[in-house]
Amino acid sequence: MRQRSRVLLLLLVITLLCGVLFMMRPDGLLAPYLSIYDEPDEPSEPSQDGPVSDGPDTPSEPDDPDVLPELPPERPSEPDVPTTPTEPSTPTVPTVPSEPNTPEPPEPSVEPTVPPVRPSEPEKPVNPLPSYDYPIDVSAYLPAISYRYDSILLVNKTHPLGPSFSPGIVTKLPSSLTLYKKDVQLEITAASAVEAMLLCMRADGITNTFVTSGYRSYQYQASLQNSYVRDEKSRNPSLTQAEALAIVRTYSAAPGSSEHQSGLCVDLMTTSMSNLDETFESTAAFAWLQKNAAQFGFILRYPKGKEAITGYTYEPWHYRFVGRDAAIEITEAGLTLEEYLNK
Ligand code: DAL
Ligand code: ZN
Repeated sequence: MRQRSRVLLLLLVITLLCGVLFMMRPDGLLAPYLSIYDEPDEPSEPSQDGPVSDGPDTPSEPDDPDVLPELPPERPSEPDVPTTPTEPSTPTVPTVPSEPNTPEPPEPSVEPTVPPVRPSEPEKPVNPLPSYDYPIDVSAYLPAISYRYDSILLVNKTHPLGPSFSPGIVTKLPSSLTLYKKDVQLEITAASAVEAMLLCMRADGITNTFVTSGYRSYQYQASLQNSYVRDEKSRNPSLTQAEALAIVRTYSAAPGSSEHQSGLCVDLMTTSMSNLDETFESTAAFAWLQKNAAQFGFILRYPKGKEAITGYTYEPWHYRFVGRDAAIEITEAGLTLEEYLNK
């Protein structure tokens, strides 16, 4: 009997222990009284928000253990939500700057290939034009200055224009550019180029030089010829008409054969000169033209020492417009227009 009662007592004790253990589960009846289920982190979290102002309210939050652990993590993430902060992270753009970096590497690889090409450049007599600095802005005149003719018109004793030739469009030069404000007309492209040339000349300090002759009609050239013949005969009354005319022909073209009839040339003169003569050669204007006329498309048409080729005596005052490229080529080569055109 005693042994049976001991067994029953043992079973009773075991049953009681199991019951107690059952009630000690986290959700058991004894759980609220057991400290092993207290979460030590919770009180610290509210204390982070708490110090601000939520002193009395925070105690209630621990009562909702399910809410607390979720809300805090969400809130800090919300301030980041303002997609704006993430937008500035469009620093995804930085990928763009990184792209230009990629093309850079290939460039240096291109440069080394350039030097081998350059050595050949100095060999070319490069057009000196780019190195010329116009003293004023001539951009408005450049289309005229740099005009390229399909074929450059040659006018001389063997290439006459004839009595009916007239330039396409003729315009009157500004009176500020003509000698004593006389009326001078010129073919429109040549007019623009000579205007630029004289303005640049003035910008360089030469202010006494003007255009004294431009376009001349067949009739006007005829009247000039008659006038010159009279002058020659008055100087030397023994001259026949033919002899006088032969002398005139060395410096004045026959009507129909003058370059002036093309409207593409000008005679320049300074106010210090009383006549159109070789004294022009000693002026600052002539020195300037020798250096710069080609940059405006003009050439000295009747150079000294080329009389046999041009057919006329030296005329330091007469400049013909042919366009910048041709003018530079002709001037640098020391050619006459006849030689340049091979005619
Ligand atoms: N003085 C030049 C040659 C002319 O008369 O056209
Ligand atoms: Zn002339």
